[in-house]
Amino acid sequence: MVRYDGVGLLLMRQWVAVLTLLAVCFIPPNRADAVSSQVIVCVQCHAALNGQLSQPVRLWQDSIHAEHGITCNACHGGDPMDSANAMSPARGYRGVPLPTTIPTICGGCHMGVVKYYMNSAHGRALGRGGPTCVTCHGSHNVIRASLDLISQKNCTPCHTFDKARQIRTAMVKTDGMLQAIDKRIKVLKSQGIVTDTLEKRLFSLRNRSHSLYHSLDVNLIRQESTHIQAELEKSNGDGGVGTGPLIGILAIGGALLSALLFYVIKKQIN
Ligand code: HEC
Ligand code: HEC
Ligand code: HEC
Ligand code: HEC
Ligand code: HEC
Repeated sequence: MVRYDGVGLLLMRQWVAVLTLLAVCFIPPNRADAVSSQVIVCVQCHAALNGQLSQPVRLWQDSIHAEHGITCNACHGGDPMDSANAMSPARGYRGVPLPTTIPTICGGCHMGVVKYYMNSAHGRALGRGGPTCVTCHGSHNVIRASLDLISQKNCTPCHTFDKARQIRTAMVKTDGMLQAIDKRIKVLKSQGIVTDTLEKRLFSLRNRSHSLYHSLDVNLIRQESTHIQAELEKSNGDGGVGTGPLIGILAIGGALLSALLFYVIKKQIN
C-alpha cells in the first residue's frame, strides 16, 4: 500500500490539478447543431400531404436554406412549433406571398441584394412584367448562386440576351478569382492548415461581388469589380491564414503545464 506523507500528498494534489486542467483544455467545444427539421411542424405535416402541398418540402430539403436552418415560416410566417395554430394569421401566417411582396420577404435577410434590386430595371418593373427573386432563384429549391444563372434559358423569356451577356462578361474575371481562392482553401484545409481568416475574408468579398449583379448596371459592376479584384489579390498574396482555436488551446495548455511543472519541481527542491 502507498502512504502519502506531506510532500507526497502535495505532489499528488498538484498532479491532479495539472491533469484536470489538461482535461478541461482538451474537451472539444459544443457544436451548435442546426435546428432539426423534425421539430418543425410545417415540415412534419406538409411532408405527409399530397402534390402541390408536399412538393415544397422535398424541394426545400436539398436547399441552401434547409442547410442553414431557414425553415418554412421564414417566408410564410406562422408558428413552426405549434401544430394546432401553425397557420393562424394571429401567429403571423401570411399564406402564399404575392409576387410584389416577394422581394421584401427575401430582402429581410438579403439586405444588400434587395437594395440593388429595388433600384434596378428589374425592381422598377416589379408587378409590371419584371422578374422577382424567385423567377431566377426558385422559391424552395434555392441553391448557391453562380454566374450559371445568367443563361439564355433564364434571361430571354422577357428580352434579348445582349444586356445579360455584357453583365456576365463584366463579372467573369472576379468570379474566376473567387473560385481559384476557394480551391486553394480546400488544398490548405486538406493539409491541416486553419483557414478561418482567409475564409471570412473570401465570404464577404464573394457576397459583395454577387450582390452587385442585381444592380444590372454594367458600369458600376466594372468599377466595383476592379476594387474587389485588388482585395482578392491581396488576400491571395499574404496568405491570410489565421491561427485556429486548437493552436490557441495547445498554447495555453502547454503554458499551464510548464508553469505547474516548474512550481512542483521548485517545491521538491525546497
Ligand atoms: C397539421 C397540418 C399542417 C401544419 C402543421 C401546417 N400546414 Fe400548411 N397546409 C396544411 C393543409 C391541409 C393545407 C391545404 C389547405 C389550406 O390551405 O388550408 C395547407 C396549406 C399551406 C399553404 C398554401 C396555402 C394556399 O393558400 O395555397 C402554405 C403556404 C402553408 N400551408 C404553409 C405552412 C407553414 C409555413 C406552416 C408552419 C408554420 C404550415 N403550413 C403548417 C396543413 C398543415
Ligand atoms: C425562401 C422562402 C420560402 C421558404 C423557406 C418556403 N417557401 Fe413556400 N413559397 C415561397 C414562395 C415565394 C411561394 C410562392 C410560389 C412561387 O411564386 O413560386 C411559395 C409557395 C408555397 C406553397 C404553394 C404551392 C406552391 O408550390 O407554389 C406551399 C404549399 C408552400 N410554399 C409551402 C412551404 C413549406 C411547407 C415550406 C417549408 C418546407 C416552405 N413553403 C418554405 C417561399 C418559401
Ligand atoms: C430568414 C432569413 C432568410 C430569408 C427570409 C431568405 N433567405 Fe436566402 N439565405 C439565408 C441564409 C442564412 C442563407 C445561407 C447563407 C448565405 O450563403 O448567405 C441564404 C442563402 C441564399 C442564397 C444562396 C447565397 C449564396 O451565397 O450563393 C440565395 C440565392 C438565397 N438565399 C435566396 C433567397 C430568396 C430568393 C429568398 C426569398 C424567396 C430568400 N433567400 C429568403 C437566409 C434567408
Ligand atoms: C420576367 C421577365 C424578365 C426576366 C426573366 C429577365 N428580365 Fe431582365 N428585364 C426585364 C424587364 C421588364 C426589364 C426592363 C425593360 C427592358 O430593359 O427591357 C429588364 C431589363 C434588363 C436589363 C437592362 C438594365 C438597364 O438598366 O438597362 C438587364 C441588363 C437585364 N434585364 C438582365 C437580365 C438577366 C441577366 C436576366 C437573366 C438572369 C434577366 N434580365 C431576366 C424583365 C426580365
Ligand atoms: C434576373 C435574375 C435574378 C433576380 C431577379 C434576382 N437574382 Fe439573385 N442572383 C442572380 C445571379 C445571376 C446571381 C449570381 C451572381 C454571381 O455569381 O456573381 C445572384 C446572386 C444572389 C445571391 C448571392 C449573393 C451573395 O451575397 O452571395 C443572393 C443571396 C441572391 N441572389 C438573392 C436574391 C434576392 C433576395 C433577389 C430579390 C430581391 C434576387 N436575388 C433577384 C440572379 C437574380
